Amino acid sequence: MSAVNITLQPRPQLDASVDHAIQAIVSGATTGQTCNTDLAAGPWDFDIRPGYGPGSSMGDVIPTGAPRQGELPREYREASEDELAGRIRAAKAALGERVVVLGHFYQREEVVTHADYVGDSFQLANAALEHPDAEAIVFCGVHFMAETADLLSRPEQAVILPNLAAGCSMADMADIDQVEECWEQLSEIYGDMDAEDAEGLVPVIPVTYMNSSAAIKGFVGRHGGIVCTSSNARTVLEWAFQRGRRVLFFPDQHLGRNTAKAMGVPLEQMPMWNPRRPLGGASVDALEDARVILWHGFCSVHRRFSVDQIEQARAEHPGVRVIVHPECPMEVVDAADEAGSTDYIRKAIEAATEPTTFAIGTEVNLVQRLAAEHPQHTIFCLDPVVCPCSTMYRIHPGYLAWVLEGLVDGEVRNRITVPADVAEPARVALERMLAAKPPAAPVADWENAS
Ligand code: 13P
Ligand code: SF4
Repeated sequence: MSAVNITLQPRPQLDASVDHAIQAIVSGATTGQTCNTDLAAGPWDFDIRPGYGPGSSMGDVIPTGAPRQGELPREYREASEDELAGRIRAAKAALGERVVVLGHFYQREEVVTHADYVGDSFQLANAALEHPDAEAIVFCGVHFMAETADLLSRPEQAVILPNLAAGCSMADMADIDQVEECWEQLSEIYGDMDAEDAEGLVPVIPVTYMNSSAAIKGFVGRHGGIVCTSSNARTVLEWAFQRGRRVLFFPDQHLGRNTAKAMGVPLEQMPMWNPRRPLGGASVDALEDARVILWHGFCSVHRRFSVDQIEQARAEHPGVRVIVHPECPMEVVDAADEAGSTDYIRKAIEAATEPTTFAIGTEVNLVQRLAAEHPQHTIFCLDPVVCPCSTMYRIHPGYLAWVLEGLVDGEVRNRITVPADVAEPARVALERMLAAKPPAAPVADWENAS
């Protein structure tokens, strides 16, 4: 019997670039839908207009004081993708160890490819710590991440955000004046906010998600509170309940609700605080009975995911594993197989030994990259409409080339500096988080495998 030669056809290499997908949809080269055709333009088209720009948060209200980006010089706006990539590589080579480039998981592929580290916001802040000798940390992410890197890095190091318009619409939903006002109103109900009851608990511990301004982190630090990330929210809430009768959680209501619910806090004891309404729109009774007061904030990327999308994925892909980020609404987290931070999602896919179909509920740049990196699996975004995070999208290789070439010429552009009076208490809140330990038997904060 003669041997039959079978040539296995390699699966076509997937293109991880969301930008390419959007360009192809807009030009009609491929079918599909994008939330806004303006996404095919350069983000500099939106620098002079108020608003977050096209993408998931284009309907959100941008605060009046939000930082604005000046006009990017024409040579960077008109350069091709290849030219910009070459210029970025050349600038990095010239700068050597003097610079470290950090790229968040949600950044476009054309930026991530130049990053020395790719990770979630907290991993990237730690990566900055590993380079105490770098003169500049270029943070390809959003404003609060650059602030956190500034808080954790040495004072001589310059943290640079390539486009100042890269805010975070969720972080912007908790403004420091509104939070101070909320605290004042709560103190009218609870009395002295520093007074401990018979069990040694103060009335309220403020907890802020990492996705908040340095001013909010500073507020929390001044009032006995703490910062959390999406991977340690449960550990942090446990820390807070050891010290306070209640928690005031901001800015993301969904992370707060999903975490507290998984810990057994009844929904009736989680009133919402809407900063535009007296007493946040809650009754005095509800606030007195509250265990977690949820700020009325949300992420416009994660709010797009729905139970219908999960049902459709299950109908079309029997056996599909659905993993969503805990910034998704509670019904979506409940309907998924698992919920976890960006790093949890990445690790869950890496750990799958058998070819698996994954439906992922998080930002499309990360999902598309994971799909390209793991061709043995079928990985798709639960949201069929290509709709990236509007603010992450504002970082384009043109801005990266501009800030790096500035450094080569001895000019620090777009430095993010947290003022000392805010930085000190903000660091206290971050240090409390670092010191907070998970319960004795370690559990993933977010596994809700059903
Ligand atoms: P990470 O904390 O996982 O980096 O997520 C940040 C974020 O913006 C999620 O929407
Ligand atoms: Fe902010 Fe949501 Fe974008 Fe994350 S994905 S940066 S929370 S708007």
